[in-house]
Amino acid sequence: MTTTIRSVCSSSSARSAVPGWFVLSAALAFLPIAAVAASAAAQTSARSAPDTLAERVRACTACHGKEGRASNQGYLPRIAGKPAGYLYNQLVGFREGRRHYPLMTGLLENLNDDYLREIAGHFAGLDLPYPPPQVSGANPALLQRGEALALRGDPARGIAACSRCHGAALTGVQPAVPGLLGLPRDYLNGQLGAWKAGQRRAARPDCMAEVAQRLTPEDVAAVSTWLASQPLPRDTRAAAAIAPPPVACGSIPAPGTAQASDSGTPAAAPAAAATRTSAPPPGSLAARGEYLARAGSCSACHTAPDSAPFAGGRAIDTPFGVVYSSNLTPDPATGIGSWSADDFWRAMHEGRSRDGHLLYPTFPYPNYTRIGRADSDAILAYLRSLPAVTRANRAHTLRFPFGTQWALSAWRTLFFTPGRLPEDPSRSAAWNRGAYLVRGLGHCEACHADRNLFGATRRGEELGGGPVPMRHWYAPSLASSREAGVADWPIDDIVRLLRTGQSPGATVVGPMAEVVYRSTQYLDDSDLRAMATYLKELPQHTARSGGASGASAPNPIGATLYRRHCADCHGEQGEGRPGVYPRLAGNRVVTMDSPQNLIAIVLAGGFAPSTAGNPRPFGMPPFGHQLDDDAIAAVLSHVRSAWGHGAAPVSAPQVQKARRP
Ligand code: HEC
Ligand code: HEC
Ligand code: HEC
Ligand code: HEC
Ligand code: HEC
Repeated sequence: MTTTIRSVCSSSSARSAVPGWFVLSAALAFLPIAAVAASAAAQTSARSAPDTLAERVRACTACHGKEGRASNQGYLPRIAGKPAGYLYNQLVGFREGRRHYPLMTGLLENLNDDYLREIAGHFAGLDLPYPPPQVSGANPALLQRGEALALRGDPARGIAACSRCHGAALTGVQPAVPGLLGLPRDYLNGQLGAWKAGQRRAARPDCMAEVAQRLTPEDVAAVSTWLASQPLPRDTRAAAAIAPPPVACGSIPAPGTAQASDSGTPAAAPAAAATRTSAPPPGSLAARGEYLARAGSCSACHTAPDSAPFAGGRAIDTPFGVVYSSNLTPDPATGIGSWSADDFWRAMHEGRSRDGHLLYPTFPYPNYTRIGRADSDAILAYLRSLPAVTRANRAHTLRFPFGTQWALSAWRTLFFTPGRLPEDPSRSAAWNRGAYLVRGLGHCEACHADRNLFGATRRGEELGGGPVPMRHWYAPSLASSREAGVADWPIDDIVRLLRTGQSPGATVVGPMAEVVYRSTQYLDDSDLRAMATYLKELPQHTARSGGASGASAPNPIGATLYRRHCADCHGEQGEGRPGVYPRLAGNRVVTMDSPQNLIAIVLAGGFAPSTAGNPRPFGMPPFGHQLDDDAIAAVLSHVRSAWGHGAAPVSAPQVQKARRP
C-alpha cells in the first residue's frame, strides 16, 4: 500500500502528472518530421567548433530548426532574433510551469538562471533571414478584421491594438515584448488559446492574459491568419525600449531576484513577493538548517511549480494515487508557524503530524527518522526564517483503502520502526558520517532500492537498485559495479560526480541529474568525501537482474541510424568527447541489463545539471518525436551489441511501453 516514495520529487511528473516525454502537445502533431530530419542533417557540419554555445544547445535546434530559425509551417516557433529578455522569461516560464511543453520542461529542469540567460542571449543575437510569409488563401473579410485588430484594436470592446505593445512594425519591443511576424498561424492560434484557457501565463502583470480574454475565437482566427500572412519589413529587429514604457508589462526580473509568479489566485501576490528572501546569516543555526535542507532536498517536494518556496501543494504521483506536500513556511494557520521543536522532531522522526495523525511515507521519514535532534532543530530554524505564506494544505487523492489512517497504521506496523542508525565504532568517522547522509538525510534509497507491493523498501537490499515508479527510469544498484556501484572508483571521482554531475566515467542523467542539481552540488567537501567513503565500502551484491543475458547479433539498421543520429556527438566508435559528450563504449547506462534509462534518455534527451563545476552543460536532443519505436529499438540494440558489449537487444514494445504515461 502506501505511496512509494521517490524523491527528489520527480518534478516533471509532479508538474504534469505525466512524465514529460510521453505527452507530445497535441499541436506537435503538426511538426513536419521532414524538416526536423533535414535540420539535423544540416547540423552535422557544426563539428568544427565544439566549445561554443551553439554546440551546447544543439538539443534545442533539433526542434527549433537550424540555429533557432523554424520554418513558417507547422507549430514550432522561431526563437532566433527575439528579444533576449523575452526568451529568458519563456525559458524560466517553461521550467517553472507557467508554460507547458513537457519535452522542453524536461530539458530545462536542471539548468540555472544564469545559463538560461546565456542561452537566451545566444538565440537573441542571431540575425537570420525569415522564411517567406504563409500564403493564406483566407477570405478577405477575415484578413481585414485581423488587420484592424492588430493595428487599431477595437476600442468599443476595450481591445488595444497589438501594435501598441508589440511595436508599430509588429517586430517587438526591447527588452521583453516579442515580435508577431514570421510565426506560424497554428502557433499563434495555440498561444492565444492557451492564454485564454489559463494554460500559458507570464510574469505579472500578465497583459496578454487580459488581451486574450477579450478576444473571441473568431478574433483569434482573424488576427493569427493576418499576422502569419504578412511579409516582414526589411528591418526585423525589435524596436528600442520606450522610456517610460507605455504599459508596465513585458519586463524582465533583475538577476538574483525570483520572478514574480502568478498562480492565478489573489493569494498568489503575497506568495510571489515572498519568494524574494535573503539568505540566513552565515554561521547561524538557520544557515546550518538551510544546508541540511539541501542535503535532504526538502524544497524539491515542498515547492509547487510557479509558487513560493516551501509553501507545499506539489502533487506527487504515486502508484496509490496523488499525494500533496505540506506548507512548511511559518504561517501559523496553514504552515508550521505554531509548531514547537518537539512537534517538528516528531514529524521527522516518527512520521506524525502535529495533531498526531500519521503521515504518508511519500514524505521520506523512513529515512529521516535516522537524523539527529540537533539537525532537526536546525532545519526548523531555517524554515522559521522563511517568509510566511498562507496556503492551505490540499487533501490527498488516494484510492481506497490507501488513504485511510488504519491502512497507514498497518503499513507502519509492518515496515517502519523509528530509530537512529547505530554508529559503527569499527568504521571511520567519515564512513559513519557518510552512512548518516546516504541512508538518512540524503534518502538515496528512496530511489535506489527495490520496493515490495506495498511500496516499502525490501530489507537487506536498501541500495540494491530498483525502478523509479511513475517515471520510466531505473535507479541502478549502488552495490554492484555493473550498475551504479563505485567501489572501484577513486574517491575524487565520486565526489566530482556528486558535485558537478560529471566524472571521468559517468554523467548523471534523468532523476539523478535532479538530485545533483538540487542537493548534492551544495554539499561541502568533507560531507561529499564521507558519502563517497560509505558508497565505496558498501557490501557488493550481484545486480538483481544477473549478468548480461545473451549477446545480441549485430544490427545493421541500428548501425546506420547510429551513424546518422548519434555518431556526430558520441563518436563513430562510441568514444564520446571527454567533458563534452559521454562515451557510450563501455558505459554502464548502455550495457546495464535494464535498458530503461537508455530508452528514457533517447526518448526525452536531457542536459546534465548546471553546477558551479559545470555551469554550461551540453545537451542531448530528444528523439522520441522523430524516431519511431522500431528505429529507437534498432539504434539501442546496436549500441548494446557494438564495441564488445554483449547486452541483450531492445525491443520495440519496450520502447512503446516507455512512452506510455
Ligand atoms: C522536442 C522539440 C523541442 C525541443 C528539443 C526544444 N523545444 Fe523549444 N519549443 C518547442 C515547442 C513545440 C514550443 C512551443 C510550445 C508551446 O506550445 O508553448 C517551444 C517553445 C520555445 C520557446 C518560446 C518561443 C516563443 O516565441 O515564445 C523558446 C524560447 C524555446 N522553445 C527555446 C528552446 C530552447 C532554448 C531549447 C533547448 C534547451 C528548446 N526550446 C528545445 C519544441 C522544442
Ligand atoms: C498591453 C500590451 C500588449 C498588447 C496590447 C498585446 N500584447 Fe501580445 N504580448 C505582450 C507581452 C508583454 C508579451 C510577452 C509575454 C510573455 O513574456 O510571455 C506578449 C506576447 C504575445 C504572444 C506570444 C508570442 C510568442 O512568440 O509566443 C502573442 C502570440 C501575442 N502577444 C499576440 C498578441 C496579439 C494578437 C495582440 C493584439 C490582439 C497582442 N498580443 C496585444 C503584450 C501585449
Ligand atoms: C519525496 C518528497 C518529499 C521530500 C523530499 C520531503 N518531503 Fe516533507 N512531506 C512530503 C509529503 C508528500 C508530505 C505530506 C504527507 C502527508 O500529509 O501525509 C510531507 C510532510 C512533511 C511534514 C509534515 C507537515 C504536516 O503538516 O503534517 C514535515 C514537517 C515535512 N514534510 C518536512 C520535511 C523536511 C524537513 C524535508 C527535508 C529534510 C522534507 N519534508 C522532504 C514530501 C516530501
Ligand atoms: C529521484 C531518484 C534518485 C535519488 C533520490 C537518488 N538517485 Fe542516484 N540515480 C538515480 C537514477 C535514475 C540513476 C541512473 C541515471 C544515471 O546514471 O545518472 C542514478 C544513478 C546514480 C549513480 C551512478 C551515476 C552513473 O552515471 O554512473 C550514483 C553514484 C548515484 N545515483 C548515487 C546516488 C546517491 C549517493 C544518492 C543520494 C544522495 C542518490 N543517488 C539518490 C535516481 C536517484
Ligand atoms: C547533439 C549531441 C548529441 C547527439 C546527437 C546525441 N547525444 Fe546522447 N548525449 C549527449 C549529451 C550532451 C549527453 C549527456 C546528457 C545528460 O547528462 O543529461 C548525452 C547522453 C547520452 C546517454 C547517457 C550517457 C550517460 O553516461 O549517462 C546515452 C545512452 C546517449 N546519449 C545515447 C545517444 C544515442 C543513442 C543517440 C542517437 C540516437 C544520441 N545519444 C545522440 C549528446 C548527444
